[in-house]
Amino acid sequence: MATVYLKLTTITNISPSKLRFNPSTPALPKSKSKSQSKSTEPLPLFSSVKSFAPATVANLGPGFDFLGCAVDGIGDHVTLRLDPAVQPGELAISHISGAGSRLSKNPLWNCAGIAAISVMRMLGIRSVGLTLSLDKGLPLGSGLGSSAASAAAAAVAVNELFGGILSPSELVMAGLESEKKVSGYHADNVAPSILGGFVLIRSYEPLEVMQLKFPHEKSLYFVLVNPEFEAPTKKMRAALPPDVTMPDHIWNCRQAGALVASVLQGDLIGLGKALSSDKIVEPRRAPLIPGMEAVKKAAIEAGAFGCTISGAGPTAVAVTDSQERGGEIGERMVEAFSKEGNLKSLAMVKQLDRVGARLVSTVV
Ligand code: HSE
Repeated sequence: MATVYLKLTTITNISPSKLRFNPSTPALPKSKSKSQSKSTEPLPLFSSVKSFAPATVANLGPGFDFLGCAVDGIGDHVTLRLDPAVQPGELAISHISGAGSRLSKNPLWNCAGIAAISVMRMLGIRSVGLTLSLDKGLPLGSGLGSSAASAAAAAVAVNELFGGILSPSELVMAGLESEKKVSGYHADNVAPSILGGFVLIRSYEPLEVMQLKFPHEKSLYFVLVNPEFEAPTKKMRAALPPDVTMPDHIWNCRQAGALVASVLQGDLIGLGKALSSDKIVEPRRAPLIPGMEAVKKAAIEAGAFGCTISGAGPTAVAVTDSQERGGEIGERMVEAFSKEGNLKSLAMVKQLDRVGARLVSTVV
């Protein structure tokens, strides 16, 4: 039976925005009392922490900028430590490893740095300096929420170092600060990366985020096929039309509603059908990704329930109900990228990450 979560909580201690959040299954420990977060600067509980935040699939077809989900097993790690060599109240970035070697180590120009500083500000950290190192498991500009995963891991690391005072929704606000600077004001990657599962961004002003519970007993597999091609989010957003026609608007609203209902009911066929149905964003972006139209066709012909562009692309995402079938669908999609787009690509079959960003280890 589908469950819809309607109870919204207003959190008032963040300025300037009012924030509402509806946590059905919080991935992170519940926040401590608001007075605790406001009155005094919290003390660090650890000398160092390590966190992980998962990759995400944003948009899910018709849910441009308002639907997304987290996928398991791939993501970014952040290690954060108290550092007496860093000016109190400030943050330094010491290392960036993995797929992010060309990212800036200036914290003001780095997604992890921006989110970490935002959390330090929310907590009022003035007495200790911090050093962060980022291990990027996600390729940049891939459509898998790479910048959001860095921001989510950093936000969680800072919060947990000081005892987990902020709520998940406050961490989403910090992550959104980062997304705003690097790829655009959208929370459909950072919210699911922090919260896990499927997430609906109901409103941005104030921010209202709803978790959509996908039934535990259902098997859902995402086939993610990442070609060797970069599709910077800013460029892919610039390709979108300023206006949409009324028939397309009505169509996409219907499909987004069907997608939400399918998630809540665990209806994989309905989910796939809705995922494939976007008439506004995908038609503008697909021609910019060589082979994408053929890849979608190949996925459906191979038995996928649906297929679309993951986030801003170039990764293609298809859904199915078994690991084995996912492997076969992935092979067909890789072939299509090669044949029709002349692109090498890599297929992965992943499940839903229901946990979201979390602490991996601590050192006292
Ligand atoms: N909703 C955003 C977009 C997600 O499609 O531009 C970017 O990953």
